[in-house]
Amino acid sequence: MEIYKDKNFTIDDRTEDLLSRMTIEEKIGQMLQVSYNVLDKNEYENYKNLGIGSFLHVLGSEADDIRDKAAKTRLGIPPLFGIDAIHGHALLNGATVFPSQLAMSCSFNRSLIREMGRATAREVAADGLDWTFSPVLCIARDLRWGRVDETFGEDSYVIGELGKAIIEGYECDNLIIACAKHYIAYGEATGGRDAYDCSVTERKVRDIFLPPFKKASDAGCGSVMTAYGSIDTLPLTVNKRMMREILKDEIGFEGFVVTDWENIKSLVTKQRAAKDIKEASKKAVEAGNDMSMNTHEFYNCMLELVKENQIDIKLIDDAVRRILKIKFRLKLFDGKDKIDKNIIGCSEHKKINHELSRESLVLLKNDNVLPIEKEKIKKIAVIGPNADDIRAQYGDWTYFSHPEPKKHVQPKGEYYTVLRGIKETFGEDKVLYNKGCDIFGDENYIKKAVKIAKKADAVVCVIGDCLAQNGEYRDRANLDLSGYQEELVKALVETGKKVIAVLINCKPLCISYIKEHCGAVIEMFNGGDFGGLAAAELISGKFNPSGKLSVSFPQHGAQTPCYYNQYSGWHGGQYVDLQKGNVYDFADGLSYSKFEYSNLKLSRHTVPNGGAITVSVDISNTGDMDGKEIAMLFVKDVVSSVLTPEKQLKGFEKVFIKKGETKTVTFKLKTDDLAIVTTDLKYVVESGDFEIMVGANTKEYLTETLTVL
Ligand code: NOJ
Repeated sequence: MEIYKDKNFTIDDRTEDLLSRMTIEEKIGQMLQVSYNVLDKNEYENYKNLGIGSFLHVLGSEADDIRDKAAKTRLGIPPLFGIDAIHGHALLNGATVFPSQLAMSCSFNRSLIREMGRATAREVAADGLDWTFSPVLCIARDLRWGRVDETFGEDSYVIGELGKAIIEGYECDNLIIACAKHYIAYGEATGGRDAYDCSVTERKVRDIFLPPFKKASDAGCGSVMTAYGSIDTLPLTVNKRMMREILKDEIGFEGFVVTDWENIKSLVTKQRAAKDIKEASKKAVEAGNDMSMNTHEFYNCMLELVKENQIDIKLIDDAVRRILKIKFRLKLFDGKDKIDKNIIGCSEHKKINHELSRESLVLLKNDNVLPIEKEKIKKIAVIGPNADDIRAQYGDWTYFSHPEPKKHVQPKGEYYTVLRGIKETFGEDKVLYNKGCDIFGDENYIKKAVKIAKKADAVVCVIGDCLAQNGEYRDRANLDLSGYQEELVKALVETGKKVIAVLINCKPLCISYIKEHCGAVIEMFNGGDFGGLAAAELISGKFNPSGKLSVSFPQHGAQTPCYYNQYSGWHGGQYVDLQKGNVYDFADGLSYSKFEYSNLKLSRHTVPNGGAITVSVDISNTGDMDGKEIAMLFVKDVVSSVLTPEKQLKGFEKVFIKKGETKTVTFKLKTDDLAIVTTDLKYVVESGDFEIMVGANTKEYLTETLTVL
């Protein structure tokens, strides 16, 4: 009896049955993932007929063809189709493009991010695909790194919480699996150099970088992707300690591990850590990689290794078992649940997207400029290189940039740049527009921009960066506004108008001048389809802003890393040639209301090790607009055997509070949450005092002391 074909058996039984029927060629085939664009046509066709494990970057109709061919192979094992649906299924023109991970993290809204994940999964599945290479759980601590936009910001706790939420959303209907990446400490590369070595220790990995992956694994995340880089000179691709021992054996991750793009080949061609692909393949599988993304030589090399008895067949079985289990979990053998293609870009998803764009915006400064009542102004000037550039607004990982750059493609879905948003919100006849300058280059139109600014009652200037300055292979040393952007803002400020700066950028930039001289500052990052509408609605007061920064803004590129959870002990605590502190800090963000915190209470002030307490605080909305507030709980371990941060986030809650009302917000805090990683790599809660700080941000909070016995 072919148990593997029968739905009535358990996934484990079906997997073991199938595994027992497979030849070594079929098993190794499952461990290979092929991209549609790296092979010559004949080789590609060959892989389709061979029945290999997975394809990536293939869209809808082509997936059907590959699926049909796989069905005709001896065992008919369906392939798994992976895609970079990083902020929506955005490699497909017409699908919903959500704000980038960095933008959406500023919403601090777990449930909305869960909904975004679910909507993305439905669009990916409707297109016939099964697997998104998302979320990125890297930590954006060196802002020079090109991939800051792909992260949930600078804090390990926030990343873990939002990572868990998005994974739950992706996987809740069992339509697709998620991929927690890039394992591990990839963003911490020395000098912010993409894919370069980083010098963290295992203690630091456990303390800072591992917790988000543990949360992802506990949430049932189907896959993990190996990082490109190396830790203390050992490439992650061959890091058995990190992958096999810590991720799989210790944490108990049950999904499978896929390498990043050509990681196995890079061991030979870039990192010089193996003499040939055969040796690289052996090392990679022994370290715990279950699937090779590209490096298609892997297939023949593995066959040779088996023939020569150079690799333990148990490792191959373990890898294939993990991959097959996911295929059964997604019901690929049973005719996966069909999702109507019409849900791609549907109104329900647009609604979630619009809401997420609104909650992702961060109002950083408001010198009594906002909101602007539509009726009170006759003309509004919209100026700046990013005011009407949907490419810059989308950021990375859309059909504009992947799988290969396309310059002239027209978006099929509905989208709002800030210019369109302002026109629709304030009335087209009121709007004057000029680009002012480009992101790069010698040309500028500042004189023309100044001319229209002078005619207007309100001036909105949309600046930032563009994709050429961000992404893989694109790290920056200089984080200043490029080109003529600062000159443009200066010229507008000199008109005497209170300039409203809107920032559309993939990462924090150095904006001291903007902070000091503009009347209002709004950070969007990459806002997706509705970013421009949401910004216009914020300006007009149609909703009350509630986002806060998930990442800090330095004064100068060389001030990075500038994350909030630093250790104490820096002599002087600042660079002698800069002022103290950042331009904006993690958790900064204003509302049109005012929220006052009072009555911080701990359910008990002493707690035995292993116990838990509740922390509560009252928050009153004393403004005259209903609004949402994000309450933050930070902890300081007063005395610890290793350095601990001055403040470490351990909880956040976003609450809606009507004007004039007070709400009590409670957090649960376990003593386990206070554990440190000791130098001998143990998780220990050291007895003593902990300051418990609850408030709006890193500067305004109430404090109580908790003693752990
Ligand atoms: C390289 C990137 O590092 C990774 O994030 C992505 O998922 C894969 N390529 C596939 O495109």
